[in-house]
Amino acid sequence: MAFAGGKVILFGEHAVVHQRPALAAGISIGVEATATEADADRLTADPWGVDLAPGEAEGQGADLARAFATALALYPGDRPRFHVHAKVGIPGGAGLGCSAALGVAIIHALDDAMGIEREPEARGEVSLAWEKVFHGNPSGVDNMMAAVGGIAVYRRGEPLEPILARKSLPLVIAHSGESSSTKEMVSMVTRQYEREPERVGELFDGIAALVRNAKLAIKDGDHKAVGQLMDMNQALVSGLMLSTEKLERLCKVAREAGAHGAKLTGAGGGGCMIALCDSTEAAKDVESALAPHASFTAITETRSRGRAQ
Ligand code: MEV
Repeated sequence: MAFAGGKVILFGEHAVVHQRPALAAGISIGVEATATEADADRLTADPWGVDLAPGEAEGQGADLARAFATALALYPGDRPRFHVHAKVGIPGGAGLGCSAALGVAIIHALDDAMGIEREPEARGEVSLAWEKVFHGNPSGVDNMMAAVGGIAVYRRGEPLEPILARKSLPLVIAHSGESSSTKEMVSMVTRQYEREPERVGELFDGIAALVRNAKLAIKDGDHKAVGQLMDMNQALVSGLMLSTEKLERLCKVAREAGAHGAKLTGAGGGGCMIALCDSTEAAKDVESALAPHASFTAITETRSRGRAQ
């Protein structure tokens, strides 16, 4: 059974598409996948009730069929055929990296079925082709985090930089109930950048400075400072018209319930908010306060993993 986790972007969404760093963390919910030899290639994805063959298709599932063909094209043509079965445990369109986790889990399952050894980072890199089918111009942060996990700084074209956190980060995730398209949100921000390069460029640079400070605060285990930096990041992404009334309300409720800071995570325009708490106990209180306002809530305790720098 292969597993790939979702992710939360703690700092730097959108700026990371435009060559700035982002700081992200893997989460414990994700996608499981298995690949078993069959007469023909096929992908079943539950609980979506999707069952499709790879290739060009029309309508619902068209992107998935194309992405599946892209994943299979990573392997030699004379390989056996496979039925890949995926169990998706993350809401889609929520900013939690669902499509990337699905791609990474499928490629991991195919690797296992064919006895192919691949380092997690290499698996993250090859999964970018899958992500491109869905998001056009992905930075690569989602697929890299789905493959590697932990807490890390990611910058386009550079190796992932794992962060050794002094303390784990207890986060509450709350879904606004509004779904959004990463592809459309990335295009919307890119258009703003083209129209107003100076203003938006400065905003991206401001976000990059938050990433640098947050890296130090996470290494020091200073949750209060990390929370304050999250609030600042939220203010900057609001300046890019990425926040919504519902996301703002969720952030306010979380702060009033004792969170150190809160912000949207991922593409914005809907999807999820994350709030940083002092402890898992405190996170439970914040989650209870958020539950009446959210379509989905979860607590995730993100931890460092692997070698730290
Ligand atoms: C999506 O999880 C994060 C964005 O920055 C897009 C990307 O990095 O590809 C909005």
